[in-house]
Amino acid sequence: MRVIHQIEIVADCNLKCVYCPCNKGLTRKDNALFISDDHFDKALRLCKAFEKDTHELWLHGCGESLMHPNFLDYAVKTAETLEGVQIKLSTNGILLTEDVIKVLAENKILVHISIHKATRKTAEHTNLAHSYGILEHLGCIPIQSASNWAGQVDWPDYAPKGDCAWPKNQWACVLSDGTISTCCLDVNPKKPVGHVDEPLEILKNRIIWPVELCESCHLDPVM
Ligand SMILES: C[S@@+](CC[C@H](N)C(=O)[O-])C[C@H]1O[C@@H](n2cnc3c(N)ncnc32)[C@H](O)[C@@H]1O
Ligand code: SF4
Ligand code: SF4
Repeated sequence: MRVIHQIEIVADCNLKCVYCPCNKGLTRKDNALFISDDHFDKALRLCKAFEKDTHELWLHGCGESLMHPNFLDYAVKTAETLEGVQIKLSTNGILLTEDVIKVLAENKILVHISIHKATRKTAEHTNLAHSYGILEHLGCIPIQSASNWAGQVDWPDYAPKGDCAWPKNQWACVLSDGTISTCCLDVNPKKPVGHVDEPLEILKNRIIWPVELCESCHLDPVM
Protein backbone atom coordinates (compact mmCIF):
# COMPACT_ATOMS: atom_id res chain seq x y z
CA MET A 1 0.00 0.00 0.00
CA ARG A 2 1.12 3.54 -0.68
CA VAL A 3 -1.58 5.79 0.72
CA ILE A 4 -4.16 5.79 3.54
CA HIS A 5 -7.08 7.45 1.82
CA GLN A 6 -9.65 7.20 4.63
CA ILE A 7 -9.86 6.65 8.36
CA GLU A 8 -13.25 5.45 9.57
CA ILE A 9 -13.85 7.27 12.86
CA VAL A 10 -17.30 5.79 13.53
CA ALA A 11 -19.01 2.76 11.95
CA ASP A 12 -22.45 3.70 13.20
CA CYS A 13 -24.85 6.49 12.35
CA ASN A 14 -27.57 8.77 13.68
CA LEU A 15 -29.47 8.15 10.41
CA LYS A 16 -30.44 4.85 8.82
CA CYS A 17 -30.47 5.66 5.09
CA VAL A 18 -31.96 2.80 3.07
CA TYR A 19 -29.24 3.03 0.43
CA CYS A 20 -26.29 2.66 2.84
CA PRO A 21 -24.82 -0.55 4.32
CA CYS A 22 -24.42 1.24 7.67
CA ASN A 23 -28.17 0.87 7.91
CA LYS A 24 -27.75 -2.90 8.23
CA GLY A 25 -25.13 -2.77 10.98
CA LEU A 26 -21.41 -3.25 10.39
CA THR A 27 -19.21 -6.03 11.71
CA ARG A 28 -16.17 -4.76 13.56
CA LYS A 29 -13.75 -6.68 15.81
CA ASP A 30 -14.76 -6.44 19.49
CA ASN A 31 -17.73 -4.40 18.23
CA ALA A 32 -15.40 -1.38 18.00
CA LEU A 33 -17.79 0.91 16.11
CA PHE A 34 -15.95 3.98 17.46
CA ILE A 35 -12.21 4.09 16.79
CA SER A 36 -10.01 3.96 19.92
CA ASP A 37 -7.35 6.59 20.64
CA ASP A 38 -4.68 3.89 20.22
CA HIS A 39 -5.96 2.75 16.82
CA PHE A 40 -6.40 6.34 15.66
CA ASP A 41 -2.81 7.21 16.63
CA LYS A 42 -1.51 4.11 14.83
CA ALA A 43 -3.59 4.98 11.74
CA LEU A 44 -2.16 8.49 11.76
CA ARG A 45 1.38 7.12 12.10
CA LEU A 46 0.72 5.05 8.98
CA CYS A 47 -0.64 8.13 7.15
CA LYS A 48 2.54 9.99 8.12
CA ALA A 49 4.67 7.19 6.67
CA PHE A 50 2.84 7.63 3.34
CA GLU A 51 2.63 11.43 3.50
CA LYS A 52 4.67 12.18 0.37
CA ASP A 53 2.25 10.25 -1.89
CA THR A 54 -0.87 11.50 -0.10
CA HIS A 55 -2.88 14.40 -1.49
CA GLU A 56 -6.02 14.03 0.59
CA LEU A 57 -7.25 12.11 3.60
CA TRP A 58 -10.91 11.59 4.46
CA LEU A 59 -11.87 11.37 8.12
CA HIS A 60 -14.91 9.17 7.63
CA GLY A 61 -15.81 5.67 6.47
CA CYS A 62 -19.21 4.04 6.55
CA GLY A 63 -20.74 6.05 9.39
CA GLU A 64 -21.08 9.49 10.93
CA SER A 65 -17.73 10.66 12.29
CA LEU A 66 -19.13 13.62 14.23
CA MET A 67 -20.75 11.16 16.69
CA HIS A 68 -17.29 10.36 18.10
CA PRO A 69 -16.65 12.30 21.34
CA ASN A 70 -12.98 12.75 20.35
CA PHE A 71 -13.57 13.70 16.71
CA LEU A 72 -12.28 17.26 17.05
CA ASP A 73 -9.11 16.12 18.86
CA TYR A 74 -8.48 13.67 16.01
CA ALA A 75 -9.14 16.33 13.37
CA VAL A 76 -6.70 18.80 14.96
CA LYS A 77 -4.05 16.11 15.49
CA THR A 78 -4.39 15.04 11.84
CA ALA A 79 -4.01 18.60 10.55
CA GLU A 80 -0.96 19.17 12.75
CA THR A 81 0.65 15.86 11.73
CA LEU A 82 -0.01 15.97 7.97
CA GLU A 83 0.66 19.56 7.03
CA GLY A 84 0.75 19.11 3.25
CA VAL A 85 -2.33 16.87 3.04
CA GLN A 86 -5.85 18.20 2.37
CA ILE A 87 -8.10 16.76 5.08
CA LYS A 88 -11.77 16.27 4.26
CA LEU A 89 -14.92 15.00 5.93
CA SER A 90 -18.23 13.84 4.57
CA THR A 91 -21.07 14.28 7.07
CA ASN A 92 -24.85 14.26 7.14
CA GLY A 93 -24.58 17.68 8.78
CA ILE A 94 -26.78 16.95 11.81
CA LEU A 95 -23.98 17.45 14.40
CA LEU A 96 -22.09 20.08 12.40
CA THR A 97 -22.55 22.92 14.89
CA GLU A 98 -20.76 26.27 14.77
CA ASP A 99 -18.26 25.09 17.46
CA VAL A 100 -17.30 22.15 15.23
CA ILE A 101 -17.19 24.30 12.09
CA LYS A 102 -14.84 26.83 13.77
CA VAL A 103 -12.30 24.10 14.61
CA LEU A 104 -12.53 22.62 11.11
CA ALA A 105 -12.05 26.07 9.56
CA GLU A 106 -9.04 26.83 11.80
CA ASN A 107 -7.47 23.61 10.55
CA LYS A 108 -8.43 24.09 6.87
CA ILE A 109 -10.54 20.91 6.83
CA LEU A 110 -13.12 20.85 4.02
CA VAL A 111 -16.59 19.32 4.39
CA HIS A 112 -18.99 17.57 2.05
CA ILE A 113 -22.52 17.75 3.43
CA SER A 114 -24.84 14.95 2.38
CA ILE A 115 -28.47 15.93 2.47
CA HIS A 116 -30.16 12.68 3.49
CA LYS A 117 -32.57 14.40 5.85
CA ALA A 118 -33.37 18.07 5.35
CA THR A 119 -34.12 19.69 8.72
CA ARG A 120 -33.84 23.20 10.14
CA LYS A 121 -30.53 22.15 11.76
CA THR A 122 -29.00 20.83 8.53
CA ALA A 123 -30.04 24.04 6.76
CA GLU A 124 -28.44 26.24 9.45
CA HIS A 125 -25.28 24.10 9.66
CA THR A 126 -24.87 24.09 5.87
CA ASN A 127 -25.21 27.86 5.75
CA LEU A 128 -22.62 28.24 8.53
CA ALA A 129 -20.15 25.86 6.87
CA HIS A 130 -20.49 27.92 3.69
CA SER A 131 -19.98 31.21 5.54
CA TYR A 132 -16.77 29.85 7.15
CA GLY A 133 -15.50 28.85 3.67
CA ILE A 134 -15.21 25.10 4.32
CA LEU A 135 -18.18 23.75 2.34
CA GLU A 136 -16.71 21.98 -0.70
CA HIS A 137 -19.74 19.95 -1.73
CA LEU A 138 -23.43 19.79 -0.95
CA GLY A 139 -25.84 17.22 -2.34
CA CYS A 140 -27.24 13.73 -2.11
CA ILE A 141 -24.89 11.37 -3.97
CA PRO A 142 -27.23 8.33 -3.66
CA ILE A 143 -29.61 10.31 -5.90
CA GLN A 144 -27.07 12.20 -8.04
CA SER A 145 -24.75 9.23 -8.63
CA ALA A 146 -26.52 6.18 -7.20
CA SER A 147 -24.59 2.97 -6.62
CA ASN A 148 -25.59 -0.33 -5.01
CA TRP A 149 -22.26 -0.59 -3.13
CA ALA A 150 -21.02 -3.36 -5.44
CA GLY A 151 -24.23 -5.33 -4.89
CA GLN A 152 -24.38 -4.88 -1.11
CA VAL A 153 -27.56 -2.76 -0.99
CA ASP A 154 -30.81 -2.81 -2.91
CA TRP A 155 -30.52 0.49 -4.76
CA PRO A 156 -30.22 1.64 -8.41
CA ASP A 157 -26.73 1.53 -9.87
CA TYR A 158 -26.16 4.29 -12.41
CA ALA A 159 -22.95 5.84 -11.05
CA PRO A 160 -20.55 6.49 -13.94
CA LYS A 161 -18.43 3.49 -14.92
CA GLY A 162 -14.66 3.85 -15.19
CA ASP A 163 -11.31 2.89 -13.74
CA CYS A 164 -11.06 2.53 -9.99
CA ALA A 165 -8.43 4.55 -8.17
CA TRP A 166 -8.01 2.18 -5.20
CA PRO A 167 -5.78 -0.73 -6.33
CA LYS A 168 -4.24 1.40 -9.08
CA ASN A 169 -2.91 3.92 -6.56
CA GLN A 170 -2.47 1.37 -3.75
CA TRP A 171 -4.93 3.26 -1.54
CA ALA A 172 -6.11 1.72 1.73
CA CYS A 173 -8.68 2.55 4.35
CA VAL A 174 -8.43 2.11 8.15
CA LEU A 175 -11.69 0.92 9.72
CA SER A 176 -12.93 1.80 13.21
CA ASP A 177 -11.48 -1.41 14.71
CA GLY A 178 -8.01 -0.79 13.21
CA THR A 179 -8.49 -3.25 10.33
CA ILE A 180 -7.04 -2.04 7.02
CA SER A 181 -9.30 -2.61 4.02
CA THR A 182 -8.56 -2.03 0.37
CA CYS A 183 -11.57 0.04 -0.64
CA CYS A 184 -14.25 2.27 0.90
CA LEU A 185 -17.00 0.04 -0.52
CA ASP A 186 -15.62 -3.07 1.20
CA VAL A 187 -17.29 -2.19 4.51
CA ASN A 188 -17.19 -5.70 6.04
CA PRO A 189 -13.95 -6.98 4.45
CA LYS A 190 -13.54 -10.76 4.20
CA LYS A 191 -9.88 -10.41 3.27
CA PRO A 192 -8.48 -7.27 4.91
CA VAL A 193 -4.98 -6.26 3.88
CA GLY A 194 -3.75 -5.76 7.45
CA HIS A 195 -4.26 -4.15 10.84
CA VAL A 196 -2.74 -0.99 12.30
CA ASP A 197 -1.29 -3.06 15.19
CA GLU A 198 1.17 -4.67 12.74
CA PRO A 199 4.69 -3.22 12.45
CA LEU A 200 4.91 -0.20 10.15
CA GLU A 201 7.76 -1.63 8.03
CA ILE A 202 5.69 -4.72 7.20
CA LEU A 203 2.56 -2.72 6.35
CA LYS A 204 4.50 -0.32 4.12
CA ASN A 205 5.53 -3.18 1.83
CA ARG A 206 2.15 -4.89 1.62
CA ILE A 207 0.69 -5.01 -1.89
CA ILE A 208 -3.00 -4.34 -2.50
CA TRP A 209 -4.90 -6.50 -5.00
CA PRO A 210 -8.49 -6.19 -6.18
CA VAL A 211 -10.96 -7.92 -3.83
CA GLU A 212 -13.88 -10.29 -4.52
CA LEU A 213 -16.30 -7.37 -4.30
CA CYS A 214 -14.69 -5.79 -7.39
CA GLU A 215 -16.48 -8.37 -9.56
CA SER A 216 -19.87 -6.80 -8.78
CA CYS A 217 -18.68 -3.17 -8.76
CA HIS A 218 -19.54 -0.50 -11.35
CA LEU A 219 -15.83 0.43 -11.41
CA ASP A 220 -13.00 -1.46 -13.03
CA PRO A 221 -10.14 -2.35 -10.64
CA VAL A 222 -7.17 -1.70 -12.95
CA MET A 223 -3.71 -2.27 -11.47
C1 LIG B 1 -21.41 6.32 3.75
S1 LIG B 1 -21.44 8.05 3.80
C2 LIG B 1 -20.53 8.39 5.28
C3 LIG B 1 -20.39 9.85 5.60
C4 LIG B 1 -21.63 10.57 6.08
N1 LIG B 1 -22.42 9.83 6.95
C5 LIG B 1 -22.45 11.07 4.90
O1 LIG B 1 -23.55 10.57 4.70
O2 LIG B 1 -21.94 11.94 4.18
C6 LIG B 1 -20.26 8.50 2.56
C7 LIG B 1 -20.86 8.90 1.25
O3 LIG B 1 -21.54 7.79 0.70
C8 LIG B 1 -22.66 8.28 0.02
N2 LIG B 1 -23.59 7.17 -0.22
C9 LIG B 1 -24.25 6.41 0.67
N3 LIG B 1 -25.00 5.47 0.04
C10 LIG B 1 -24.81 5.65 -1.29
C11 LIG B 1 -25.31 5.01 -2.47
N4 LIG B 1 -26.12 3.94 -2.40
N5 LIG B 1 -24.92 5.49 -3.67
C12 LIG B 1 -24.05 6.54 -3.76
N6 LIG B 1 -23.53 7.18 -2.68
C13 LIG B 1 -23.90 6.73 -1.47
C14 LIG B 1 -23.17 9.34 0.97
O4 LIG B 1 -24.10 10.18 0.35
C15 LIG B 1 -21.88 10.03 1.34
O5 LIG B 1 -21.58 10.99 0.34
S1 SF4 C 1 -25.21 7.56 4.08
FE1 SF4 C 1 -24.15 8.59 5.79
S2 SF4 C 1 -25.87 9.43 6.97
FE2 SF4 C 1 -26.77 7.85 5.69
S3 SF4 C 1 -26.73 5.96 6.97
FE3 SF4 C 1 -24.87 6.00 5.67
S4 SF4 C 1 -23.38 6.86 7.01
FE4 SF4 C 1 -25.35 7.46 7.85
S1 SF4 D 1 -13.47 -1.71 -8.21
FE1 SF4 D 1 -13.04 -2.86 -6.34
S2 SF4 D 1 -11.63 -1.57 -5.20
FE2 SF4 D 1 -12.61 -0.27 -6.74
S3 SF4 D 1 -14.38 0.68 -5.72
FE3 SF4 D 1 -15.07 -1.19 -6.75
S4 SF4 D 1 -14.98 -2.79 -5.16
FE4 SF4 D 1 -13.69 -1.10 -4.48
